[in-house]
Parts: sequence; C-alpha cells; structure tokens
Amino acid sequence: MTGRLANKVAIITGATSGIGKATALLFADEGAALVLTGRRAALGEAVANEIRSRGARCVYVVADHTQAEDCQRVVDVALKEFGRIDILFNNAGIVTSGTAETTSDEVWNNTLAINVTAVWRMCKLVIPHMRERGGCAIVNNGSDWSVVGGKNALPYVTSKGAVALMTKAMALDYAREKIRVNAVCPGDTFVDRWLEKGYFADSDPVTLDDAIEEASAYIPMGRFGLPEEIAKAVLFLASDDSSFVTGHLLLVDGGNTAQ
Ligand SMILES: NC(=O)c1ccc[n+]([C@@H]2O[C@H](COP(=O)([O-])OP(=O)(O)OC[C@H]3O[C@@H](n4cnc5c(N)ncnc54)[C@H](OP(=O)(O)O)[C@@H]3O)[C@@H](O)[C@H]2O)c1
Repeated sequence: MTGRLANKVAIITGATSGIGKATALLFADEGAALVLTGRRAALGEAVANEIRSRGARCVYVVADHTQAEDCQRVVDVALKEFGRIDILFNNAGIVTSGTAETTSDEVWNNTLAINVTAVWRMCKLVIPHMRERGGCAIVNNGSDWSVVGGKNALPYVTSKGAVALMTKAMALDYAREKIRVNAVCPGDTFVDRWLEKGYFADSDPVTLDDAIEEASAYIPMGRFGLPEEIAKAVLFLASDDSSFVTGHLLLVDGGNTAQ
C-alpha cells in the first residue's frame, strides 16, 4: 500500500453518510485499513463495499455510539481484524436546535450523549492501544460553533464547545506519549441531510436552490463546504503531515468565523 496513510489502521465513527463517508473514501485512497461505524447498516455496508472494491481493507460495524458496549465492540473488532489502531476520527454526531427554554431533557441528553460522551468514550478505549505504538492521531469533529455561539442551537453549540476543550485537554495529557489530538471544525457543509424536507423550514415554500443561495449569503466565500473539503483537512490532521500539530482546532468554514 502507498499513500499518506499507508499501513495505518483508522476507525471512523459515523461513516454511513456525509463527512464521515467522504473521509473514509479519502483515507482508503491514501492506503489506510478502515473500521467504519454508524447505525444505518445498509448504508454502512454500501460504503464498506465501495472501499473494498477500490482494493482497500475495510470492515463496517453497526454501532450506536451512545451505547458503551457498542463502542467497546468497535474497538474489539478493529484489534481483531487489524491488530492495532493508529487513527480515530470521532465524527459521529447529531445537529439539534433549541433555546434554554425550548430544549427538552431528551434532546439535551441525546445531544451530549453522542456529540460529547461518545467522543470521550472512544478516546478512552483506543488510547491504551495507541500508547503501545506511539505516533498515533485522534481527530474530533467539532464545528465552527466550537468557537462561536449560534442562535437557537443551544444543545448543539454546548456540545461542540465541549469538543473543542476536550480536544485541547486530551492533547496536553497525551502529548509526551506521541498521541496527537486535534479537531476539525467545519462550517456549513452540504450533506444529504440538508436535502431532507423541512431542513430549510424557515425558507419554505421557496425552492431548495433559493434556500441554499439565501443560506450561503452570510458565508464569506458565498457557498457551503463539501464533505470532500472537510475530509482533506481531517487527512492532514490524521497523517504525519501534521506531525508537530496537537491541540489545534482547524476551522474549515469558508471564512465564516473570520468575520
Ligand atoms: N454538515 C455540516 O454542516 C457540519 C458542520 C459542522 C460540523 N459537522 C459535524 O460533522 C459530523 C458529521 O455530520 P454530517 O454533517 O456529515 O451529517 P450526517 O451525514 O448526518 O452524518 C452523521 C453521522 O453520524 C452518525 N451518527 C449519528 N448518531 C450516531 C449514533 N448514535 N451512533 C453512531 N453513529 C451516529 C450517522 O450515522 P447513522 O445515522 O447511520 O447512525 C452519520 O454517519 C457531525 O459531528 C456534525 O456535528 C457538520
């Protein structure tokens, strides 16, 4: 295998769609062996099949990362299949809305369970195995809302703010053990979820194209990002190209947080 991730084994959580799927395809092309996760089995198997058809090694594990036993099973499968773990991309997450008053207990707890607790738990499970090897990398998926607030998105903004400081705290704890911990912080990125009916509810009944144009207007570069553009930043943080980078929040947001 050649490529920037040749001979590396990577776990990507939430690789059934969007940024996780795009990163899985890029990592495979760069030579990594992959363990992919997510709850939607048909989509996960399809991504894994596509990767195997390109000649890379890949297993998909159906897993709900809010469940501790599922997280453990993912790590067990990675070790059984490939014998080690070099890279963890903590990508699985949900987007939720609400203010302090309108957020229900259920939405609050679900958001923190997948966007925060699952990130910590996966790190806790892989770090002992990374320590044995050294030269390993964890990349957490934050958001531009890891560094600035946003309206009507309290549980999500809270969770992504936590990801930012969890990333820095873990980077400090493990820097001497040659485990780098960084976060990619995407701005609005066009994924299939955005095509779901009602996503642009405030803009209905205008066409989707109109809604997207309107929503893009506040981004300095005038457009949404693409999952493939986020994947390239994840590759940088996961590979030896960023060998002296740890505790960093890499904003990939078309300039959104520069204003
Ligand atoms: N798109 C954006 O504009 C944007 C901007 C900033 C940050 N992000 C972050 O990017 C990450 C990926 O999101 P995306 O935009 O690519 O959307 P997406 O296509 O909806 O991807 C989310 C992924 O997370 C997985 N997931 C969600 N809950 C899970 C759970 N309980 N257990 C296991 N997997 C779970 C989903 O898989 P299953 O449904 O199959 O379980 C899916 O693969 C998220 O952390 C999100 O916060 C996205």
